[in-house]
Amino acid sequence: MSVNMKGKSFLTLMDLSAQEIRYLLDLAHDLKAKKRMGLHGQALKGKNIVLLFEKTSTRTRCSFEVSAKEEGGNVTYLDPGSSQMGKKESLEDTAKVLGRFFDGIEYRGFDQQVVIDLAKHSGVPVFNGLTDLDHPTQILADMMTMEEHLHKPLRECKVAFVGDVRNNMSYAWMFGCCKMGVDFVGYGPQELIDGADKSILTACQAEGEKTGARIQLSHNMDDLKGADVLYSDIWASMGEEELIPQRAKLLAPYRIDDAMLEATGNPNVIFMHCLPSFHDFETKLAKEWKDKGVDIREVTDEVFRGRHSVVFDEAENRMHTIKAVLVATL
Ligand code: CP
Ligand code: NVA
Repeated sequence: MSVNMKGKSFLTLMDLSAQEIRYLLDLAHDLKAKKRMGLHGQALKGKNIVLLFEKTSTRTRCSFEVSAKEEGGNVTYLDPGSSQMGKKESLEDTAKVLGRFFDGIEYRGFDQQVVIDLAKHSGVPVFNGLTDLDHPTQILADMMTMEEHLHKPLRECKVAFVGDVRNNMSYAWMFGCCKMGVDFVGYGPQELIDGADKSILTACQAEGEKTGARIQLSHNMDDLKGADVLYSDIWASMGEEELIPQRAKLLAPYRIDDAMLEATGNPNVIFMHCLPSFHDFETKLAKEWKDKGVDIREVTDEVFRGRHSVVFDEAENRMHTIKAVLVATL
């Protein structure tokens, strides 16, 4: 079946078909191979993309900037302090204005409804660069990285997300896994499992039944058995910083270490992380909390730097997959 994504927004993988996700992954592998050969296209020549960031970013912003420019496009970056959006101008008006100037809009912020409204009112493709609910461009990069390292079809893989099972990365994995037939377990404490949105879990389980994906949340370590990927994320997401001490206490038993890798029973398990990560005490935050007696590391330094870790391949793949999204939709 031929896939045509021109003009389509990229708000959540739940909106896409498995064929469309497959198409984006194939395109990303192809664009990466071309870049390795020093070949850049002109697929975005004459295209202007605006990047709206209401939260900080390294990988996502750089991926949009570098990939757009490598394909001949232009980007304009707006941080929360440098636009009128939400302060002097409504979201609807902002979307209508940006749609007149730009061929595509990337947004990172809080409410998923913002990307939905931007897409509704701007008339141009909108790309979700992370919200409190979802991080779909990250999952594309993660699946690409799995394909590079696991050498088997995604539908034969099992992903274990460890930690805050009710955060945007956990949900983003559920959305991606149920679409692509990948088994998913969110492994974390009952308190956070209880806080997860049950309607999301139910919807993903229903979709998973069609594709052969088992989607579950569990506090039982036995459910890590057979995982191909152990995935970690920071314990308190952007905007939740005041929760750091309580999360550190709650999630200390869920810090990924060598014993947890072994608990998968899979000698070839890979460790993945969306980054940024607290894996040592070399960051200002990790150091400040350590001085107060709180260890906020979600993974040990040994695992992060160890032979199972593919985190920097994963980070690089943000760029290739975001390029694929831009080339496919613009
Ligand atoms: N993984 C990720 O989205 O990284 P940034 O926050 O640096 O964009
Ligand atoms: N859950 C993290 C993901 C960062 C890429 C956050 O939202 O801060």
